[in-house]
Amino acid sequence: MSTDAVILVGGFGTRLRPLTLSAPKPMLPTAGVPFLTHLISRLREAGITHVVLGTSYRAEVFEDYFGDGSRFGVDLKCVVEQEALGTGGGIRNVAPALRADTVLVFNGDNMIGVDLVDFVETHVKTDADVTLCLTKVEDARAYGCVPTDVDGRVEAFLEKDPNPVTDQINAGLYAFKRSVIDTIPTGRPVSVEKETFPGLLASGANVRGYLTTSYWRDFGTPTDFVCGSADLVRGIAPSPAVPQTGERLLMPGSSVSPKAHIYGGSTIGTRTAVGAGADIDSSVVFDDARIGAGAVIRRSIIGKGVTVHPGALIEDAVIGDGASIGAGTELRHGARIWPGVDLAEGSIRFSSDL
Ligand code: GDD
Ligand code: MG
Repeated sequence: MSTDAVILVGGFGTRLRPLTLSAPKPMLPTAGVPFLTHLISRLREAGITHVVLGTSYRAEVFEDYFGDGSRFGVDLKCVVEQEALGTGGGIRNVAPALRADTVLVFNGDNMIGVDLVDFVETHVKTDADVTLCLTKVEDARAYGCVPTDVDGRVEAFLEKDPNPVTDQINAGLYAFKRSVIDTIPTGRPVSVEKETFPGLLASGANVRGYLTTSYWRDFGTPTDFVCGSADLVRGIAPSPAVPQTGERLLMPGSSVSPKAHIYGGSTIGTRTAVGAGADIDSSVVFDDARIGAGAVIRRSIIGKGVTVHPGALIEDAVIGDGASIGAGTELRHGARIWPGVDLAEGSIRFSSDL
């Protein structure tokens, strides 16, 4: 059985700004490697080696890093949308690059532990037009809400409904019959969530749900990004691409004082230096950063080349590339610091609207 994989990576990653000003969301370092590497390594592990990226925003970053995919053991092609065509338009746009009758489509910012082979086999066995992978979450409002009947048939697709009728949501992984992809309109933006799925349901198509209890997370917000990266480092999220699992991941070339405390699944990037007494919990520190003695960093993302001066306190914050955080500064509650900003010693920031 041959299966192609399409990964949608054309979004702007707005919720992860300012980090996504320079790199698209799926290329941000997560547990030491660009996020997409985890997804591609999972595909390769499942024997799915024809991978097509649906790119738009900063398309060249993907091409430069992944090339033809051979370094990653897959045959990879990047298809570029000149103007973002939305999720459905992105799927339709890659159709000429597809070869197989069954096409797996992934949102490019999700980690999912589902058995991909069983997912595809179930899709084929039930002769579904589309099979949606579903998961349960506590609060469904930020996702596509997908009620199913007792036989697993999808009853409705309600994207970001403020009053969800079920806690069962779209996990951002679909199996499509190739012929269904060919029915998506060309040349204009299409949302698979708001147009294609509701349209298929209205026309009586065989749209099925496949509920998984495996690991699942969307990495699209700062909170999910730090939690998800920590899950990868600790081996809770399954990925063959994590360099080494444990309580922390120190990338080769980092230099960490033996008197620093790094835990909670934190990652310290290549050439990053961490001073004595620094305390780094559940955070992602990109490459080439300098973390001063006694600095405290919790649940935060520290961009490339950032300098955190001694004694700074950073909690639930996102620091853009190259910023400098003055000694004794306090950043909390979703503070975001723009790239290159120089925050004076002793500054205090509690909000996200810098
Ligand atoms: N090629 C292409 N073109 N890709 C796009 C475009 C586009 O115009 N717009 C978004 N994407 C990609 C994004 O890069 C991302 O990988 C994926 O499509 C989903 O977009 P998000 O912006 O992350 O959507 P979301 O998280 O709000 O909601 C989606 O994911 C949820 C699960 O995480 C929806 O599919 C929900 O229904 C779902 O529950
Ligand atoms: Mg998302």
